Amino acid sequence: MSTRRFPVKDPIAHILWEGDRLLVLDQRLLPRRIKYVSCRTAEDVARATKDMVLRGAPLIGVAAAYGMALASRHGRRELERAGRTLLRARPTAVNLKHGIDAMLAAAEGVPEGRLPPAVENAARRFHREDIAGNQRMAVLGASLLKKDSRIITHCNAGALATAGLGTAVGVIRYAHHLGKVTHVYPCETRPYLQGSRLTLWELMQSRVPATLITDNMAAHLMKTGGIDAVIVGSDRIAANADVCNKIGTYGLAILARHHGIPFYVVAPTTTVDVATRDGSRIPIEERSGAEVLRIFGRPIAPRGARAHHFAFDVTPHQLVTAIVTERGVVRPADGRHLKRIAG
Ligand code: MRU
Repeated sequence: MSTRRFPVKDPIAHILWEGDRLLVLDQRLLPRRIKYVSCRTAEDVARATKDMVLRGAPLIGVAAAYGMALASRHGRRELERAGRTLLRARPTAVNLKHGIDAMLAAAEGVPEGRLPPAVENAARRFHREDIAGNQRMAVLGASLLKKDSRIITHCNAGALATAGLGTAVGVIRYAHHLGKVTHVYPCETRPYLQGSRLTLWELMQSRVPATLITDNMAAHLMKTGGIDAVIVGSDRIAANADVCNKIGTYGLAILARHHGIPFYVVAPTTTVDVATRDGSRIPIEERSGAEVLRIFGRPIAPRGARAHHFAFDVTPHQLVTAIVTERGVVRPADGRHLKRIAG
């Protein structure tokens, strides 16, 4: 099936390449406001990434590729400098590095004058591959679900986090299209509220029955609500198949195991990092505690309070039922099977 004819569509244009600039939807304002931020330089893309204007591992990678395309107009030295700047924007999602490396590889051996079209074409290809990969994962992931599934998902692994349909949410939406999903429960995802602001919004736009839960309600729901699967995305999968994802994912995996519920991870192979041996070596982004101490600018703790803000955690591969990639399903989720499919 061609990518255009896929029955489930990306609900919103959130990344637009216009030849001399990249327009990105400001996800910090969703779902209340639709506003685009214009990026004309690689530094603009790096800033938008760091400040969470755009987020989600695959989207960060695609945006970085276009950032490199913008830098390539100023020559090879600028391109290499842009690669270093973009890489510093966020530390955990390895898709960022893969996006940058793919552009540097496309530039290799290309005469200086031909750099801009070479890197731009490579960025467009990287973008298209993410869209196509999302669709393949949607089909593979949906085949794992039983009929009438009730699903918990965490953070936003939807269209807004990728260039296409999304990873975990792509699976959910396609499975819903096949009549296999009866209800979805996105966790709110403190402190950025990606679950309530973004995932719930995407599910509602596509008419998938969904009910929001706060992060601390998952255990109760698994015990009483008949959850059939947990499906999440990932920011980096280590060589041994340990999975790094939004903070709170590890807790969900433990709960799922305790309640005998399958725990699926959906991620493209651009999220796999064979150079990182296991999850303990994945750099976990720590953001400012101020982001935890306030909600929409309003203080929620005593003046002078301190707060941790770990943005991600690592789920040991033993707790993962299967990893769905665009190249196939890794089951059991261990280093040997991951290497066979995504190595
Ligand atoms: O901090 P964020 O919003 O960039 O974190 C995003 C996630 O943790 C997603 O689950 C992950 O990137 C997978 S998105 C397909």
